[in-house]
Amino acid sequence: MRVPHPIQYQGSKRNLASAILCYVPGRFSRLVEPFAGSDAISIACAAKGKANSYWINDLNRPLAELLGLIINCPSEVANSYQKIWNQQHGDSIEHYYRVRENFNRTRDPRLFLYLLARCVKGSVRYNSDGLLNQSPDKRRHGTKPETMRENIFGVSMLLKGKTLISSLEYKDVLLNVNEDDVVYMDPPYQGVCGDKDSRYFTGISYDEYVSALAELNERQIRYVVSYDGRTGNKTFGKLLPDSLLLTLIELEAGRSSQATLLGRDDITVESLYLSPRLALEVEASPCFHRKFEDEQLVLIDPERHSGAKLFYGAAAEPGGEGKIKTSKAEYQKSKLSIPQRADN
Ligand SMILES: C[S@@+](CC[C@H](N)C(=O)[O-])C[C@H]1O[C@@H](n2cnc3c(N)ncnc32)[C@H](O)[C@@H]1O
Repeated sequence: MRVPHPIQYQGSKRNLASAILCYVPGRFSRLVEPFAGSDAISIACAAKGKANSYWINDLNRPLAELLGLIINCPSEVANSYQKIWNQQHGDSIEHYYRVRENFNRTRDPRLFLYLLARCVKGSVRYNSDGLLNQSPDKRRHGTKPETMRENIFGVSMLLKGKTLISSLEYKDVLLNVNEDDVVYMDPPYQGVCGDKDSRYFTGISYDEYVSALAELNERQIRYVVSYDGRTGNKTFGKLLPDSLLLTLIELEAGRSSQATLLGRDDITVESLYLSPRLALEVEASPCFHRKFEDEQLVLIDPERHSGAKLFYGAAAEPGGEGKIKTSKAEYQKSKLSIPQRADN
C-alpha cells in the first residue's frame, strides 16, 4: 500500500516510519504523537493497522487544525486547495506572497496547506513575531490538486473516526497518557536550535524535556523518542542522559547532501530511544539499523554497546518487510566499528 502524505514538512519522518515502527509492539491500544508535525508516524502506523486509536497534537495551531480538516473534512480541504492552486496561474510568485499575507492575518489552515506545498523544501520559517516568512520555491508549483486530493482522502480513510486532535503544550499531553498507550515523540531538534526554533514556531527546553521523560519512566509509560543524531562522526545536539535508562537504536537516514557534494561517504544517522518498559516488551538492545530500499540491515556497534546482544527489528524477521544482511564493508561506511554476526 502506498502511504499517503498530503503535508510537505521539513523533518518529516515519512522515510523512516517503517524502521521506527519496527520498535513498537505489533498491536496496541493508542498511539499518541505530542509533536505530530506532518503526522507521518500516525499515518504509517494506521496503514499497518497497529493501533486502535490515535491522538495527534502539535502546538502549531494552524497545523493541528489542518490535520483535523484533512481527517474529518477531506472534500472541503481538497476543494479549497484546488481553488487556491488554480489561482496561481499568471503570477505564481505574487500569488504565493498574497496567500502568505492572508495566512499571517487569519491563520486559516487551508491557506497553510498551499503554503507548505509551495514553499522552499516544505520548510516553514517564522520571524520573531511568529509570522511565516518563508519564500516560494521558484521552480515548482506545488503538488497537483489531483495528487493532493488522493493523499488527503487516503489519510482521512486511515484516521477518521479514531483520532483525537489537539494543539497543546507537549507536557499537557504527557500528563494525560496512560499505560496502554505508546507515545512517539519527535521534538524540534536541539542540535540546530536549542530553546528557540524559527523552523517550528517554538523550541523546547532540554532540561524540562528530560524531566518529562523521567516522569514517564516512573509511570511505566511506553515511549519512543527521535532525537538528533550524527553525520559521520559529528554528533548533533546533547545526548539524552544515561539516568533515563533508554535503549539507543541508530537509524540510517541517508547520505548527507553536504557529504555528497564533497564526494564523501558520510551518512546521516538519527537516534531513536526506547523507554525501559518498551525496550523490554519488544526485546530491543542497542543497535544500528541500516535500511536499504528493499532490505534491512540491523547491526550492532560492539564498542559503543559492549555486552549488548544483536537485535533484529520486527520487520526484519522472516516473512517481514526486508531481508537481513551483514556486510562488513557497508557497516564500515557508516563510520562505526566492525559488526559481529547476529546470533539470534
Ligand atoms: C520535528 S517536528 C515533528 C515532525 C514529525 N515527526 C513529522 O514526521 O512530520 C516537531 C514539531 O513539534 C512541534 N512543537 C514544537 N514545540 C512544541 C511544544 N512545546 N509542544 C508541542 N508541539 C511542539 C512543532 O510545531 C513541530 O511541528
